[in-house]
Amino acid sequence: MYENFAEFYDVLMTANYAEWIDSVSEYLCGKTGVDLACGTGKFTIGLIKRGFDVVGVDISAEMLAKAYENALREKIKANFIRQDMKDFVPFGKQDFCICMCDGINYISNPAPLFARVSSYLKKGGVFIFDLSTAYRIKQILAGNTFSETNDGITYIWRNNLPQGRRLDMELTFFASDGKGKYIKKEETQTMYIHDENTLTEELKKRGFSVTLKGERLSERKKDTSQRIHFICKKIKE
Ligand SMILES: C[S@@+](CC[C@H](N)C(=O)[O-])C[C@H]1O[C@@H](n2cnc3c(N)ncnc32)[C@H](O)[C@@H]1O
Repeated sequence: MYENFAEFYDVLMTANYAEWIDSVSEYLCGKTGVDLACGTGKFTIGLIKRGFDVVGVDISAEMLAKAYENALREKIKANFIRQDMKDFVPFGKQDFCICMCDGINYISNPAPLFARVSSYLKKGGVFIFDLSTAYRIKQILAGNTFSETNDGITYIWRNNLPQGRRLDMELTFFASDGKGKYIKKEETQTMYIHDENTLTEELKKRGFSVTLKGERLSERKKDTSQRIHFICKKIKE
């Protein structure tokens, strides 16, 4: 997963990361934290630039190679660790943990991850993550194909929902070699639908209070929100 997409991720991801990082950082307390499923390091690097001390964790070597390149280009000293976030335990207790842009959708059962995050957060610490909603996955993505061209790269993105909670995504990329030819690369990924009420209950069992936000952190959650944010505070050990 993300073996081939890593090469194109930063070009094709058109989200307003600067605004997103600013809004997340307003909820963070303390200085030291972890960016789970950090990908190409957008949040890790963005938060370091804003004065936080953050370690990025990701399972994909290719995404982390891009993260190192991005940090180097921005002259930022950043540490990235290649590990499954479900197994990751940082050195010492943390002030915050984030997992942004669908990281939790890539995990079939997030409850053990919530327990692990709770175990390494300080009391009063914050855990922030977002989720592609059931509405987005079932009504917008499932059964549909998307295509776009950006900066010499074309993608075709096919989505299939074979079982109730599992979305299989087939991605095909065509990248110009600059000499009139296109190189084709393919990748398959799986995401899972999570019920927000079940996640909220699981988080509460692990000592978190939970506030739900909409597509942006400044917005309320709606029935048609395609993305929601969980702002969780560790209130009990
Ligand atoms: C859509 S990208 C998000 C990257 C980044 N957080 C961002 O905001 O741009 C999802 C990332 O989750 C990572 N990922 C998926 N499953 C993971 C796991 N079990 N442990 C760590 N990383 C994982 C992928 O490698 C990929 O980099």
